[in-house]
Amino acid sequence: MIGWLRRKKPAREQASAGSKALLADTPPKQAAGANPAADGGEEATSAKRDLSEPLLTVMGVERSFSVGGTQLHVLRGINMELYPEQLVMLKGRSGSGKTTLLNLIGGLDQPNRGEIVFKGHPFHRCSDDERTIIRRKEIGFIFQSFALMPLLSARENVELALRMAGVPRSQWKQRVEHCLELVGLAKRMDHRPFELSGGEQQRVAIAKAIAHKPSLILADEPTAELDSQMGAQVMSVFRDIIRTEHITICMTTHDPTIMEVADRVYEMVDGKFIAS
Ligand SMILES: Nc1ncnc2c1ncn2[C@@H]1O[C@H](COP(=O)(O)OP(=O)(O)OP(=O)(O)O)[C@@H](O)[C@H]1O
Ligand SMILES: [Mg+2]
Repeated sequence: MIGWLRRKKPAREQASAGSKALLADTPPKQAAGANPAADGGEEATSAKRDLSEPLLTVMGVERSFSVGGTQLHVLRGINMELYPEQLVMLKGRSGSGKTTLLNLIGGLDQPNRGEIVFKGHPFHRCSDDERTIIRRKEIGFIFQSFALMPLLSARENVELALRMAGVPRSQWKQRVEHCLELVGLAKRMDHRPFELSGGEQQRVAIAKAIAHKPSLILADEPTAELDSQMGAQVMSVFRDIIRTEHITICMTTHDPTIMEVADRVYEMVDGKFIAS
C-alpha cells in the first residue's frame, strides 16, 4: 500500500559516507546538483552535521506506577538510541508501555531508574523547569487526535505554536507559510479544522509541531484515526520533513504497513524491547 514511500538509508550509513567526504582532501565526485558545498549554506551545513552521534540515548530506564498500593512495573530496563534524521517506530500491544516511554523521551515524565540523555542534557537529572525549557525549544509533539484549536485557522494554529515558543512575530508569516507548504497545505491555510479532512488536520498538526524548528518529533499513533491513504500521506510528509528540516521522528503505531517505512522498529513486550 505504501511501497512507494522509500525507506531512506540508515542514518549511520549516511553518516559514514558523509564523514568520509569531510575527511577527504578533495570532495568526492557527485552527481550534478548533489554537491552540498557547491549548493550553498544550508546544504553545506547539512553535510557537516554529524549523523553518527545519537540525538537521544536511553539507558536502563525503568518506570513504575503505584496503583492501589501495588507497584505496576511498566518499563523494565529500556535501552535505545535515536540518531539524527531517523524515523523510528515503537510497536507493541496496548498497555505495553509505548506512550509511557514517549513521555519520558519528551521530558514530560521522569524514570524511576536509568538515564535519558537528549542532546547532552541528562533528562533524568534535570528539574521540571529545565526539561520544559529544552522541550519547548527542541521537541515537537503530534497526537492521534490532532490537538488543534478548533476556532483557529490552519495558519493561526501554526502561528500559535511559534508564539508559545517565543519566536519573534516578524518571523511568523514566513515560517507559517513555509511549514504549511511543506505539508502540502498551501491552499488550505485559512481553513479551520472542521473545514479540513482528518489527514489534512494531521498535516496542520505536523506543521505546528515543526514550526519552531525542533530536532525531535514525538508522535503517538499519528495515523490511528486516518484511513490507509491519509496515513500514507502523513508518512510521506514525515519522510520529507526528516530530509528537509533535519528532524528525527520517533512514533508509535500498531499498523504493520506503516512500519515498512521505518529506519528502525523497536518492539515492546512486558516493558522491555525484544529483537524484531
Ligand atoms: N500515570 C499512570 N498511573 C498508573 N498507571 C499508568 C500510568 N500511565 C500508564 N499507566 C499504565 O501503564 C501501562 C502502559 O500504558 P501506556 O499508555 O504506556 O501503554 P501503550 O503501549 O501506549 O498502550 P496503547 O497502545 O493502548 O496506547 C498501562 O497498563 C497503563 O495503565
Ligand atoms: Mg499509547
